[in-house]
Amino acid sequence: MNTVPVTDTLHWVGAVDWNIRDFHGYSTYNGTTYNAYLAMDEKIALFDTVRKTMVSDLFHHIQQLTAPEKIDYIIINHVELDHSGSLPEVIERVKPEKIFCSKMGKKTLIDHFHREDWPFEVVASGDTISLGKKSVQFLETRMLHWPDSMMSYIPEDKLLISSDAFGQHFASSGRFDDQVDFPAMFHEAAKYYANILTLYSPLVRKLIAKVKEIDLDIRMIAPDHGVVWRSNVADILDGYERWSRNAGQNKALVIYDTMWKSTEQMAKAVLTGIDSQGIPCELINLATTHRSDVMTRVLEAKAVVLGSSTLNNGLLPRMAGFLMYMRGLRPTNKIGAAFGSFGWSGEAVKLMNEAMEEMKFDIIDPGIRIKYVPDHDALAPCVELGIKIGAAVKAADTE
Ligand code: FEO
Repeated sequence: MNTVPVTDTLHWVGAVDWNIRDFHGYSTYNGTTYNAYLAMDEKIALFDTVRKTMVSDLFHHIQQLTAPEKIDYIIINHVELDHSGSLPEVIERVKPEKIFCSKMGKKTLIDHFHREDWPFEVVASGDTISLGKKSVQFLETRMLHWPDSMMSYIPEDKLLISSDAFGQHFASSGRFDDQVDFPAMFHEAAKYYANILTLYSPLVRKLIAKVKEIDLDIRMIAPDHGVVWRSNVADILDGYERWSRNAGQNKALVIYDTMWKSTEQMAKAVLTGIDSQGIPCELINLATTHRSDVMTRVLEAKAVVLGSSTLNNGLLPRMAGFLMYMRGLRPTNKIGAAFGSFGWSGEAVKLMNEAMEEMKFDIIDPGIRIKYVPDHDALAPCVELGIKIGAAVKAADTE
């Protein structure tokens, strides 16, 4: 790839990872990018780096613009290793005058690389440095999504270098939102929010409020993954505002795993009931849909109905794994219910209800258990459950 100008002074110099398909348990069918940006000003500043294995891409891109040894400053917006893994090699070669980071950034960098001798310069929200023609204003975003996280705003360009926020795991030759398949890329932005930021939604809402309070004029957003937003900034800001409220749309999901298809029959009957209420609904088998894709659908759904057979007094393993994943991300403001077949003990429904209670779902029914294999009549309560779910979604939509 080639370096690409983002503004007259700022250039993309990151790396495109076309081949990655798993990002610590998150499916990345479209690969990703690790974005680093180089400000070619009176002071030359590098914003973030790339993962360790891609450091040669970073150096190739920097060398299209300048000798790496000429870089004065390195600005670390986020310490996670996909952005800092190459830092020791970069620092060794660049020998920067200063490394700007948040207070927690310094601590976290030392915890990772054990180099207290690096030339750290700790900055806080509101601090500004001059690069020459342009300046950089820092905005700490602690726990969005790590304690060290911060953003860098270039007021002269109205450009926000936003760290992971507003990113997408999306590899492409285009570097901007108007140069790629927009719906596919926007889907990846939603998936990123669902799988990385859902837990931090209250902080996202605070950040949006803070941006409004300080009247930050944002015309471009350059995240650490995927493309730079320049033509559709309002769309991604609206998306974050909506997702952070966990509003959900007029839609219900039936998410299940099944042993001998009895729970699957129940799932289809629940779906029939929801559909009869005119509510858009989707049947999701955990055996065929990756948990990170399920979470993307949960982000936009109003109701989540869970189904699992009982196995060894517990849940089927795929449902247990999915619940552990979803509880970690803690989506809120959902309508919930559970169902499942069993042979002799039948704990699955209780366990799914407990998980939903923990996430503060509005559980509108105690749940349905069916022994062994249902016949047509035995499925009637499942259809009724679906009707109840559909009616609840409809009622929530008109509130
Ligand atoms: Fe892309 Fe939190 O690292």
